[in-house]
Amino acid sequence: MNSRFVGMMSGTSLDAVDAVLVDFDPSYLKPKLIKRCSVDLPTDLKEKLTFLAHTENLTFRQLAVAEDALTYLYAQCALKLLDDLPEKLQPVALGCHGQTIEHQPNLVPSYTLQLLNPSLLAELTGKNIIADFRRRDLAAGGQAAPLVPAFHRSVFQSADVDRIIVNLGGIANLTFLPKSTQLPVLGLDTGPANLLLDYWHQLHWHKSYDTEGKKASGGKLITALLKQGLADDFFALAAPKSTGREKFNPEWLSRLLGEFPDNQFNSKDVLRTLVELTAVSLTDQINQLDSEAKAEVYICGGGWQNTFLINRIRSLILPRQLASTANLGIPPQDVEAVAFAWLAWRHHQKETGNLPSVTGAKGERVLGGFYPA
Ligand SMILES: Nc1ncnc2c1ncn2[C@@H]1O[C@H](COP(=O)(O)OP(=O)(O)O)[C@@H](O)[C@H]1O
Ligand SMILES: [Mg+2]
Repeated sequence: MNSRFVGMMSGTSLDAVDAVLVDFDPSYLKPKLIKRCSVDLPTDLKEKLTFLAHTENLTFRQLAVAEDALTYLYAQCALKLLDDLPEKLQPVALGCHGQTIEHQPNLVPSYTLQLLNPSLLAELTGKNIIADFRRRDLAAGGQAAPLVPAFHRSVFQSADVDRIIVNLGGIANLTFLPKSTQLPVLGLDTGPANLLLDYWHQLHWHKSYDTEGKKASGGKLITALLKQGLADDFFALAAPKSTGREKFNPEWLSRLLGEFPDNQFNSKDVLRTLVELTAVSLTDQINQLDSEAKAEVYICGGGWQNTFLINRIRSLILPRQLASTANLGIPPQDVEAVAFAWLAWRHHQKETGNLPSVTGAKGERVLGGFYPA
């Protein structure tokens, strides 16, 4: 039986659409990554999506224009991935996350909006599409995020050692996988990661990210700014908790900087301090969840490339070992997309994809909707 699925993801960093083709044949024991590709978000689309994520009053037309452009980009990426593959390697379906514009699990009514037009994508690619993964968990009373911990449990859990999987995307999130399957898996967003780093870097150096964290590494830590940033209520909230651009955004940062009206901070020092904010908010959670420092810690997401950030995290979680998920068989940049291929596979088998211990939902649910080719 065909067990190949595509996973497609574009995260809060707004950097690219990532796509992977994965085979979940049980005889492989682990998901087998057959092929991957990415398509960068063009600047105008990135600007449109950033605008939507940061603006209160929108028209349907603005949403439709961005959704249409994004769907064409997903189609371009899918065709690039699949076009030259023989029929025997083609997937059952494409599991597509879409682009989160706003995520408000705690408002009444709760809502979460991922832009993507699955009907159009089915038309453009000629493939079955599985999409809208988050809203069923939300409907069942959950936070609808993070969703990847169920996938992490299925492929990364070990019977010998506790493991913590950290995803450094726009937002940082972690999954705690106890070695005992009797204990619940935990997962939460710990705070901002690349989102604020990228914004500040773009603003001051006109390039979308700080390669390997080199600029930040030359800055000085502003202790008062770090302390004030960490005083945000979000960091003290208990899990389950999730966050996104609606919370940690340029306005959040300018409010924070505005609390120091008498200081003219050097922009490199601010970047350095934002790295520390990411590292400390993340590692505080790691140290709480794993107070005896016995867990192995694995990183995925684009933040793995930020050597300075990784070194800061490494030193704040000693004596634990830190490695990327490549050591567990999946390259760090592909874990999220593979997770959405996995969720599509689960959907297709009518199997559940959420973890109530992580999202707070009333129960396990089959996630997503099916749009036939
Ligand atoms: N060479 C690099 N040096 C530093 N940071 C990098 C590098 N490559 C990628 N990144 C960071 O990773 C981000 C993309 O990470 P990704 O996991 O795709 O996040 P998301 O899931 O939010 O899209 C980029 O925006 C950038 O901040
Ligand atoms: Mg990305």
